[in-house]
Amino acid sequence: AKKVTLRTLHQMKNQGTKIAMVTAYDYPSAKMAEAGGADLLLVGDSLGMVVLGYESTVPVTLEDMLHHTKAVVRGAHHSLVVSDLPFLTAHLGREDVLKAAGRLMQEGGAQAVKVEGCNNAVLDGIRACVDAGIPVMGHIGLTPQSVHQLGGYRIQGRDLESAKQLMDDAKRLEEAGVFSIVLECVPEEVTARITEALNVPTIGIGAGRFCDGQVLVYHDLLQYGSEMSPSFVKTYAKTGEEVIRGIATYVREVREGAFPDKKHTFQLHPSVMDTLYG
Ligand code: KIV
Ligand code: NA
Repeated sequence: AKKVTLRTLHQMKNQGTKIAMVTAYDYPSAKMAEAGGADLLLVGDSLGMVVLGYESTVPVTLEDMLHHTKAVVRGAHHSLVVSDLPFLTAHLGREDVLKAAGRLMQEGGAQAVKVEGCNNAVLDGIRACVDAGIPVMGHIGLTPQSVHQLGGYRIQGRDLESAKQLMDDAKRLEEAGVFSIVLECVPEEVTARITEALNVPTIGIGAGRFCDGQVLVYHDLLQYGSEMSPSFVKTYAKTGEEVIRGIATYVREVREGAFPDKKHTFQLHPSVMDTLYG
């Protein structure tokens, strides 16, 4: 397959070809997501929840993001790897944002970063990155890093004022130079308006049918160790069940002495046996 670039994504939007993004957190998930044909791999800070077991994405550090980004990049050959800037990072001022994004690109090997929110500080950081040649993906609507302020994971942009705010934010992000915007948990009528108004592709999660692309969390869509997924998630495989079944069979066979059998065992050559014990 051809390497996915920002140009590819732009062309896909213009041709009406939907973009498929999935999160990936390590080497095997990156390889499998790519084998499944994903255009974009997102090293999401959702890794804090689905891989590290935190209650939110707030505790995730830049070092965590680097660690996982490196592993994903080793498994990704033609999909575009986007890495999340963790909690607070985008608010620290141009220089610190640049340093963090620069590390995700240079040490981590990401080809782009994603930034939550759209206040003036964040927009400033985005402009600094774009000026420095770092492609930035925006993320508005439900921004999980602000869960404590939002009072839970709830749909955004439902009333007139907040719908208008989302439209404005999307425009401001585009003007700041983002190459794409994630819309999370937004009514699809709002998504449709934003998608129509922008030149850059929108990627939705819980944002309905009218985005230029979709993203889901790997562990949610594959039901892999995440039982409680949000209502907008569709389950495409019950991987967790399959894994538990496999482990349970292994454990039973070990107890019963059925594993290892002769086929999974090394033996001495008969001539060596003869010399040793004959
Ligand atoms: O961290 C993540 O997985 C994300 C997606 C849900 C957009 O930011
Ligand atoms: Na994220």
